[in-house]
Amino acid sequence: MKLTERVDAVREKGPHHRFDKKAPEPALVNSNAVPTALANASSLPPASSLSSVTAVPVPSPAPIAASQLPVDPLADIKERAAQELFERIGTRLNDPSLSEEQLHAYARAELGNIVSAEQVPLSDDERDRLIAEIGADVLGYGPLDVLLADEAVSEIMVNGHEQIFVERNGRLSLSPSRFTSEAQLRRVIERIVSKVGRRIDESSPLVDARLADGSRVNAIIPPLSVDGSSLTIRKFSREPLTVRDLIGFGTLSPDMAELLDACVKAKLNIIVSGGTGTGKTTLLNVLSGYIPPDERIITIEDAVELQLQQEHVIRLESRPANIEGKGEITIRDLVRNSLRMRPDRIVIGECRGGESLDMLQAMNTGHDGSISTVHANSPRDAIARLETLVLMAGMDLPLRAIREQITSAIDVIVQISRLKDGTRRITHVTEVQGMEGEIVTLQDAFIFDHGAGTDADGHLLGRAVATGVRPRFADKFRDLGIELSPGVFQAELMTRAQR
Ligand SMILES: Nc1ncnc2c1ncn2[C@@H]1O[C@H](COP(=O)(O)OP(=O)(O)OP(=O)(O)O)[C@@H](O)[C@H]1O
Ligand SMILES: [Mg+2]
Repeated sequence: MKLTERVDAVREKGPHHRFDKKAPEPALVNSNAVPTALANASSLPPASSLSSVTAVPVPSPAPIAASQLPVDPLADIKERAAQELFERIGTRLNDPSLSEEQLHAYARAELGNIVSAEQVPLSDDERDRLIAEIGADVLGYGPLDVLLADEAVSEIMVNGHEQIFVERNGRLSLSPSRFTSEAQLRRVIERIVSKVGRRIDESSPLVDARLADGSRVNAIIPPLSVDGSSLTIRKFSREPLTVRDLIGFGTLSPDMAELLDACVKAKLNIIVSGGTGTGKTTLLNVLSGYIPPDERIITIEDAVELQLQQEHVIRLESRPANIEGKGEITIRDLVRNSLRMRPDRIVIGECRGGESLDMLQAMNTGHDGSISTVHANSPRDAIARLETLVLMAGMDLPLRAIREQITSAIDVIVQISRLKDGTRRITHVTEVQGMEGEIVTLQDAFIFDHGAGTDADGHLLGRAVATGVRPRFADKFRDLGIELSPGVFQAELMTRAQR
């Protein structure tokens, strides 16, 4: 058990403990009731940046009953020192003007004073260990540190202080780590959001933020989150997944990768469609990687996630309103602005509002080769979703006009799904052909072969296969001299009898 957990545990024990006199357990629903020092005293940096204070490895906080814990002779002094540290430097823990190094140096110096003042005889080693452990606990992310450092974990979901789920290899599991109290969880959340200049309290109980390493964080606290604060962290992979990785995972076949490469090079307008966490942004990143290096690329995102390797890239990020409700810059503002920046390609992280209309108009007025994602469960859904999003622009356009805009703008929809075995697969590559009456006509070039069944471990054996229909956009490849292997569109759909 880590020190902050112990401090919390002790604090929860009852009023006889000296910490309770100074700092009663805060009423969590009302964040104003949290004493400043405690509310602020929590943790922050990813484990890597803690190296300066983490001289002693921090043990994994398995849920062991306090009575079973080996007795640490320094436990008492640690608790006192940590509490004293909270009180002395609490307000500075979330001070954005202090760099991590300054904060750590400051905390170490204070801890040195506190430990000396305890007048407990300690060897140099014990003293160093004490300072390192307390520092790591107060300045770290509590039980999240272990999970953040674990490369195999791609997503961390905290559902109240007692439950942390993680995703590994596409599968969710309950982690043995947990926070000792809602107060500890809230301190971690406050520390994370304050680092990006945001705050979380009753007046703004939901916040998007990012960790120093780029990981995306969403936090929502009571009373909106009924059973305790909830924190979701999408870990940022330093090495973005490449097309080779995706082929290796079975997300797409080499043939399909070749086709998508050709689609990007031929400046087709592409929409990646998929549900939450299906890998849309990852696929968008891979597709953007096919953009030739001599083109000027503008990326527009809510929170920068794309990691393009080209040299000529301008990254734009939207901005939420400040505390007074002013200063918001939306994706839509950025899309409009980007048109005045001489873009060759506009890559929009996700269309989720009125910017969809501006994007379609841009695609229809010479800004070919744009790529974006929408949240939808099938190519047909993606069209319906775009219709709704265009309506959000508030232009009062007739549905038919919207559909015409969509059909003339979008060339290809790539559908990605998370299948029941946890793998992410491209299930459709679909051409948007035109309109028949009121209906948008779609033609699949690749679809997932769901009939292939599963292996002994429950893994799906199917993959996306060519339907045999040669999409009309393939003519564009020929005109531009883009060569595709002859067999790419050849039908592979097998009947059960053939298998
Ligand atoms: N093809 C893939 N195979 C395995 N894991 C993947 C694949 N694509 C993405 N991932 C992993 O899945 C997680 C979600 O990916 P990503 O952010 O691309 O999804 P998303 O659809 O954009 O999510 P959101 O809807 O939240 O924006 C990441 O941790 C990423 O590393
Ligand atoms: Mg995404």
